[in-house]
Amino acid sequence: MSSSCSGLGRVLVIVAAALVSVSPTGPEAWGPPGVQYGQLGETVVLLCPGVAPGTLISWHRANGRALLGAARSELGLGQQELVLERAENKDEGTYICQSQDGGAAGSVTLQLGYPPSRPMVSCRASDYENFSCSWSPSRVSGLPTRYIASYRKKIILGTDREGPALSADPRPCSLELPGATRCVVHGSEFWSQYRINVTEVNPLGASARLLDVSMQSILRPDPPQGLRVEPIPGAPRRLLVSWTYPSSWPLQPHFLLKFRLQYRPVGHLTWSMVEPAGLEEVITDAVAGLPHVVRVSARDFLDAGTWSDWSKEAWGTPSPETATQVQAQTEKEPGRPTLPRPSLQPNSQPLTEPGDPLEQVAVVTSLGVFSFVGLAAGALALLLWLRLRGHRKGAAPKPGFLAPMVQVKTMPVA
Ligand SMILES: *[C@@H]1O[C@H](CO)[C@@H](O)[C@H](O)[C@H]1NC(C)=O
Ligand SMILES: *[C@@H]1O[C@H](CO)[C@@H](O)[C@H](O)[C@H]1NC(C)=O
Repeated sequence: MSSSCSGLGRVLVIVAAALVSVSPTGPEAWGPPGVQYGQLGETVVLLCPGVAPGTLISWHRANGRALLGAARSELGLGQQELVLERAENKDEGTYICQSQDGGAAGSVTLQLGYPPSRPMVSCRASDYENFSCSWSPSRVSGLPTRYIASYRKKIILGTDREGPALSADPRPCSLELPGATRCVVHGSEFWSQYRINVTEVNPLGASARLLDVSMQSILRPDPPQGLRVEPIPGAPRRLLVSWTYPSSWPLQPHFLLKFRLQYRPVGHLTWSMVEPAGLEEVITDAVAGLPHVVRVSARDFLDAGTWSDWSKEAWGTPSPETATQVQAQTEKEPGRPTLPRPSLQPNSQPLTEPGDPLEQVAVVTSLGVFSFVGLAAGALALLLWLRLRGHRKGAAPKPGFLAPMVQVKTMPVA
């Protein structure tokens, strides 16, 4: 089994398209009332709430510190708006504004941060029915943030040669919990492609990450479960290893898993690896008397997606060989099929093996038919050629079962 296909190309994140859109969204219902958000390093304009236009205002910092440096002092007095150029962290805090006539007063709390940035998004399917996408900020904005996740299915239009179009309406990718950074697309289609849109929104704007995802590339099963390593009585170099499908994998005839198994004796660093066909394997080259560690991983049978993580390791030691057991073993040797055959059938459901013997029979049969037809055509051609040669030489046609057909065929020549 080539492992080349589990390289970089199989990274779970497939960034096919990434557009950014940042649009300011004005001061809206973010956080408690009276809080205003601004961008670090940019000019911030504070508005005094509840003061009629035209009123003269004075501004103070709530902590009593001198409000403004000399350069800004003219801004601090008599303005309805307080303009802070190149806002810095030390400008954060509560400002009190008061009309000059000693009347209405208000306060604004300034919180500074950055506009949203495109989140990092990765998607994964641990089965072929649903997949999930999770994300993290690519830059911490320092401001209240929420995420909107949606997806559209790509539809291939029959006559459109420009490739797949996107389905008309984006559907919400439902968050598992409010505030979660993961959402699930339920009932996804194995052969379809999806475009995921995860938008980071904060008081300073919104920024969307678009990701094209196909189930086939993000499929990554959970590791197999129930790994067991058992000695085989009387066989000091053998271990019987068995496991089960991961419980998250829905059992269906058309979506099987294949496995790879690694083992090594205690104190050795190198793993040996085999690719068993079914849900168990007999290790035949174990080191007698040593405990062995075994682990197993799974992948879609038709190589979609990537290998799962390794399962939890399990240990086992081959059974010691005693004199009587040697005796018993040699006696038993001829008829040794005491071990159950590896089987593809999890929970003994009737599953069809991809390498179905019936299929192979069909292939062989059609090959046979094909070569028979080829042979017959060759023989016919040879007969025709002989016949034509005969005609050119003026020889009389010989009677034979092919004669009528050959005569029809040779008519244009005659
Ligand atoms: C996929 O999602 C559906 C709908 O929520 C659920 O019924 C099903 O159990 C999920 N499949 C798996 C394998 O988790
Ligand atoms: C992504 O989702 C956001 C939020 O729903 C939306 O405003 C934006 O238009 C979407 N972008 C694209 C390219 O679909």
